[in-house]
Amino acid sequence: MSNPQPITEVSGSTNQEWQARKEDAVARGQGNIAPVYIERAKGSELWDVEGRRYIDFGTGIAVCSAGHCHPKITAAVTEQVNRFSHTCVMVTPYDTSVRLAEKLNELAPGPSKKKSIFVTTGAEAVENSIKIARAHTGRRGVIAFNGGFHGRTMLAMGLTGKITPYKNLFGPFPAELYHAPFPIEYHGVSVEDSLKSLHNLFAADIAPSDVAAIIVEPVQGEGGFYPAPVEFLQALRSLCDEHGIVLVIDEIQTGFARTGRMFCSEYAGVEADLMTVAKGMANGYPIAAVVGKAEIMDAPLPGGLGGTYAGSPLGCAAGLAMIDVIEEEKLADAALHVGEVFSTRLQALQQKFPKNIGHLRTEHGAMMAMELVNNGDAEQPAADLTKALIGKAYENGLALLSCGARGNVIRFLPALNISDELMNEGLDILEACLQELV
Ligand SMILES: Cc1ncc(COP(=O)(O)O)c(C=O)c1O
Repeated sequence: MSNPQPITEVSGSTNQEWQARKEDAVARGQGNIAPVYIERAKGSELWDVEGRRYIDFGTGIAVCSAGHCHPKITAAVTEQVNRFSHTCVMVTPYDTSVRLAEKLNELAPGPSKKKSIFVTTGAEAVENSIKIARAHTGRRGVIAFNGGFHGRTMLAMGLTGKITPYKNLFGPFPAELYHAPFPIEYHGVSVEDSLKSLHNLFAADIAPSDVAAIIVEPVQGEGGFYPAPVEFLQALRSLCDEHGIVLVIDEIQTGFARTGRMFCSEYAGVEADLMTVAKGMANGYPIAAVVGKAEIMDAPLPGGLGGTYAGSPLGCAAGLAMIDVIEEEKLADAALHVGEVFSTRLQALQQKFPKNIGHLRTEHGAMMAMELVNNGDAEQPAADLTKALIGKAYENGLALLSCGARGNVIRFLPALNISDELMNEGLDILEACLQELV
């Protein structure tokens, strides 16, 4: 396969030079998947400092869902920058923060009256959801799931159910956090097994009356793109109702039309008590939120929640524009179309490489994955092949991401409005790379 031809002027520096400078200047803990330094991006394409073009199947980890530099979002942010960039929402707020809260409250699934708060990152939204749940219940315990990912700050990291690289070296972890197995049929854990473990936890470790919250992703993101079965989310809802536990649904990766619904929990018809959102909410501008039932959201005292940059004017402007774009351009339907195109192509690929592609997950719109194994065996993860495939894809002009507790899942998170032509071009590169490696 030949390398993609440069189509912009070379900027006078190379990826290799920048990577060497980066390694000298930035601590290794903040790693990067590819030594590719981006100069500009548009729609579903990226160009690096050497003028090489990449088709973007990652969107900065499920963020730029409307494509890079969407004109409507860029215009809204530019207009905001020209008016003011910061006053602090906790000092002198602005109309866009109220409008965005109203919009989120309206969009959040379920009939209950909702309220929102804004923060800056997904991890912060998770931290705040637990603070709110504890303030509301007066309880201490929080239950999360193996393989779950909720962020890198102390409490969010404690809730994360994957040790390497997120938790090793960073203990001790906050107290009163518990983990239960997440149901993954492909790896032999049924919904029943998972619910049984929760009941064991209640018998052995913490009484349900001491549990403030259960936090769950409707599709595990970093953990490997494993969807929570509908009956599992519904069972968690019932369990929380029975014991007065706050159900937190972490929609940080799944939200804002990514899975073919505005929020993924809509597939299960489950109303969260609290929902955490970020990423696709503002197409690349840092803003995150907790949206939830008003009586729960109002538990903390005034001033107990927030942050200097919480709900920045730029994030609010981008968020409002993004929601308009999702609605005007029917991005939820577009996500379903993306899922169908990938599903057809990936199934053909699996038939061609049955020993290497163990499992496909394409039932949630544009949040798709293929799990790579050896000898067609679910319990023989092919982490080396996954790593090699990612490297080769970048060499050949395709920006790709991996995930998974075993490091053997390729995840696909293109923009929801990516053209069929670019999808197929990217999938052709993927196929050729895999062919070369196996
Ligand atoms: C489900 C989920 N929760 C929380 C986070 C943390 O978000 P952030 O990286 O913005 O702190 C992520 C990020 O990948 C995520 O996927």
